[in-house]
Amino acid sequence: METTIPPADPGPLRTADGSLTLRSAQWGEHYHSMHGAVQESTHVFIKAGAEAVQKQELDVLEVGLGTGLNLLLTWVRCLEGKWTVRYTALEPFPLSKEQLDELGHCDELAWPGLHEPFLASMTATPGEWQQPMGGLAFRRLDTPVQELDEAERYDVVYFDAFSPGAQPEMWTTAVFQLMYRALRTGGVLVTYCAKGDVRRAMQAAGFKVERLPGPPGKREMLRATKVPQ
Ligand SMILES: C[S@@+](CC[C@H](N)C(=O)[O-])C[C@H]1O[C@@H](n2cnc3c(N)ncnc32)[C@H](O)[C@@H]1O
Repeated sequence: METTIPPADPGPLRTADGSLTLRSAQWGEHYHSMHGAVQESTHVFIKAGAEAVQKQELDVLEVGLGTGLNLLLTWVRCLEGKWTVRYTALEPFPLSKEQLDELGHCDELAWPGLHEPFLASMTATPGEWQQPMGGLAFRRLDTPVQELDEAERYDVVYFDAFSPGAQPEMWTTAVFQLMYRALRTGGVLVTYCAKGDVRRAMQAAGFKVERLPGPPGKREMLRATKVPQ
């Protein structure tokens, strides 16, 4: 009998700012911009997202935990005393401990002491809150974004799906309606994608949408705010 072996993911790849990412053979895309993984995550999710909310206690929802880079960048700011964060990440297709170990994001960010607690949190039982240290509580849910059923719970959504070309089902009005419901009034959803169709889907879900300057290599990004009706 003939068996089909799926293509293996290649190992870590260096992006233009020196930080590492992975490429998914399943989706045919990189997990981050090849113009710079850390630069992109910091620009889009930390600065235009979490910092824009101007609160010290934050509830963050990430759509697409992937390699955990956005989680780590948020965690480092908690350790620096900037915020206290409850961080929920959706990831139905988690990377293995071996892939995360090889990627070594914590060494790259010059926080080698986080490597073991980071791996433990990333690979813990889905749904269980992890309280690793330094003002960050974390849980991963294996729920696909299309099935999230929460209301008025989050201040920020890091919307970090693969592109609309690779996963169009992630960028629909129906999904943005779920995100709108999950956010508190005044909360924001940020994403690296600036496509017109995506902006219109967010507006149809009720968001007020801004086009902001993008990270290196991208002209624009989007920030959607849940404004009072
Ligand atoms: C661009 S990558 C995320 C990169 C990640 N934030 C990081 O820092 O490494 C997109 C992620 O979305 C996940 N994903 C795919 N389908 C999903 C779904 N239906 N709901 C939530 N996440 C999904 C993929 O498995 C992948 O890890």
